Amino acid sequence: MQADIEAGGETRHMSADDLEPPGGDAAGREARAVVDGGLQLIRDDVARQLRQIGHAVQKLDSDGLPRFAAHLPRELSSERITELERTVAELEPWLQGPFVLADNFVIPGLWRNDLRGAWLGSTVGDLTGLRVLDVGTNAGYDAFLFKLHGAAEVIGCEPFDFIHQARFLESVYRSGADFRQIGWQQLDPEIHGRFDLVHCHGVFYHELHPMLLLQKLRAMVADDGQLLFGSILHASREQSEYIRFVPDSYAGDRTWWFVPGRLAMRWMLEVCGFEVEELLISDGVRGEFATLNAYFRGRPTAPAVELGQR
Ligand SMILES: C[S@@+](CC[C@H](N)C(=O)[O-])C[C@H]1O[C@@H](n2cnc3c(N)ncnc32)[C@H](O)[C@@H]1O
Repeated sequence: MQADIEAGGETRHMSADDLEPPGGDAAGREARAVVDGGLQLIRDDVARQLRQIGHAVQKLDSDGLPRFAAHLPRELSSERITELERTVAELEPWLQGPFVLADNFVIPGLWRNDLRGAWLGSTVGDLTGLRVLDVGTNAGYDAFLFKLHGAAEVIGCEPFDFIHQARFLESVYRSGADFRQIGWQQLDPEIHGRFDLVHCHGVFYHELHPMLLLQKLRAMVADDGQLLFGSILHASREQSEYIRFVPDSYAGDRTWWFVPGRLAMRWMLEVCGFEVEELLISDGVRGEFATLNAYFRGRPTAPAVELGQR
């Protein structure tokens, strides 16, 4: 499982390897101690979240939060809330949120996906009749958003246990979003078809084989479709055409690897066969070096000849 925690401007992440260290030997014990420490951080955050359920987010602006199904009730009974709280606790840690299940029951999550979601929703507009793929869907926030915008079909791909959160939410929302427990590596246009919109946010800089990811995304986009691609970038203007490699960790997160500059990101997308439009650049998470949050739109074009032959 990979867990990313973005709270108070800080981001910490755990990877599948973090959660399943080799046991037995000294290295295994050391790795397990790191995992236990990391998990405790998550548990503390989740304990805080669970105390907030139905309260904290509501106090903020629950009226303004998206409701991912029209049939959601205003009030849930205390018995139903107790039942839901048990399920929510079993599925911890919740990173994405807030998810409204009723006016008196909201799963806050550690992130404020609704803030990015407002921008994303207005960017994608009406998706009526379209096929959409969300790569690294986590608990499915963006997949539910795309359904809300009328997509005919949404596939959310998530290899780790977050898929159970997405499936639990789908059992409540009944949106029709289809959650598959697969990584991007298993996506195949011959099996899954190609998509009018491929969305991938927050996956790239955690990826050890970033060009392969971009090539796979390109393969999944229909000829007249588009990619919406979001990633952290490093913020150095002078080194915009360079990719910064992170050998150890960023803000305590050991799953950051390749952090491109703005120009390097554009070039990588172009080489893989996208005509690139920059949609959004804002300040990124705080850590050892300055970062940016970026979103690009990619329209399919021919990949670089050398890459196309592979
Ligand atoms: C930083 S989170 C971003 C989640 C979501 N896209 C968002 O922006 O809120 C990265 C997600 O990618 C998932 N992930 C990790 N490896 C993956 C892979 N090989 N294929 C697809 N998703 C992956 C993680 O489990 C996690 O849910």
